[in-house]
Amino acid sequence: MKVTASVDKMRRAGIDVIDFGAGEPDFPTPDPIKAAAHTAIDQNFSKYTPVGGIAELKRAICDRYRADYGVDYSESEVIVTAGGKQALYNTALALFGPGDEVITHAPYWPTLTEQVKLAEATPIVVRTRPEDGFAIRARTFVDAVTPRTRGIIVNSPCNPTGALISESEFAAIAVAAARQSIWLVVDLCYEHLIYDPTPHNLPAVAARTCRDLTVLCGSASKAYAMTGWRCGWAIGPSPVIAASSAIQGHSTSNASSITQKAVVTALTGSQAPVKAMLDEYRKRRDHLYDWLTVDPRVRCRKPDGAFYLFIDVSDVLSPDGLPTTTAFAEVLLEEEKVALTQGEAFDAPGFIRISYATSMENLREGSARLLKFVARHAPVRATVSK
Ligand SMILES: Cc1ncc(COP(=O)(O)O)c(C=O)c1O
Repeated sequence: MKVTASVDKMRRAGIDVIDFGAGEPDFPTPDPIKAAAHTAIDQNFSKYTPVGGIAELKRAICDRYRADYGVDYSESEVIVTAGGKQALYNTALALFGPGDEVITHAPYWPTLTEQVKLAEATPIVVRTRPEDGFAIRARTFVDAVTPRTRGIIVNSPCNPTGALISESEFAAIAVAAARQSIWLVVDLCYEHLIYDPTPHNLPAVAARTCRDLTVLCGSASKAYAMTGWRCGWAIGPSPVIAASSAIQGHSTSNASSITQKAVVTALTGSQAPVKAMLDEYRKRRDHLYDWLTVDPRVRCRKPDGAFYLFIDVSDVLSPDGLPTTTAFAEVLLEEEKVALTQGEAFDAPGFIRISYATSMENLREGSARLLKFVARHAPVRATVSK
């Protein structure tokens, strides 16, 4: 969001900036969803709704998860929120408090750990490794459990790495959670942005293993290109949902009534637009990867999900040149007018995140500028001759 603000400012000053920072689809919201919102306005559906959302939307969420994952939830186990962010925040406030430890994996989307801190609990971070494809390993979580552990948060597909947790690793985490009565919070906000057919039925694994301890958090933002509409949801045991509803009732109340109607159409209508956007992201990912990796100092793997390339640029950094990726991002913006997010923002020094939720033309031009920048700033390493 900080990057977006800088880009905004530069654009208002008439500067042509290529924005690789945005964590949101560049596509417009699909037309049928917009039409549903127009209808809601025309029919004056503009009053407060129940705090936890209209029954029609809760049903649509349950039906979607039943169709996609084969899991059964009832309306009392669902709350509609203003974005996945609020679903996660309500959950953190409902479940965690002072003295609790909550384990999550780095690199991470910083909101996850900040929300744990806002609940006055302590985030405990376990690391995933680039040489292991940033795979989330159950063992690291199990090893980090202490008598104070109250929760585990898993984000898959992961922002920023694009990695997916395998069902077997997730099952091992779920078994450990069940054995020790630890809450399992699953951030599924990118669940529909998975490129290849990969087993990723985390809701079914959780339902089999620790349904009473699992909260699934989802969102309309990324799948349906609805970031500005603000709609997400949490699905979990009804006491947790009731507590989330109490928190929401005294903070923001219901998600926008118009948005809720639009999301009913998003979830119950044709899913073809989701697939079309995914196909376009895949093309962009593949091109961007090919363009950037011609330079061996730009090291990355193709992500399995989400829409980010997470790149190791540590070979470009040096104490006398660009010491950190924060410096990298600042100087790149200044010199080449390309905005991206530094790895430090995700607890991953040495990395940069490029969002390819932007046009192919921008990706082509931006990657050319980035390579020029790398060539200019990379330190000349002494080569050892045989
Ligand atoms: C990992 C992750 N989870 C959740 C969200 C929440 O998105 P929203 O509040 O728009 O649903 C985001 C947004 O960037 C995200 O990256």
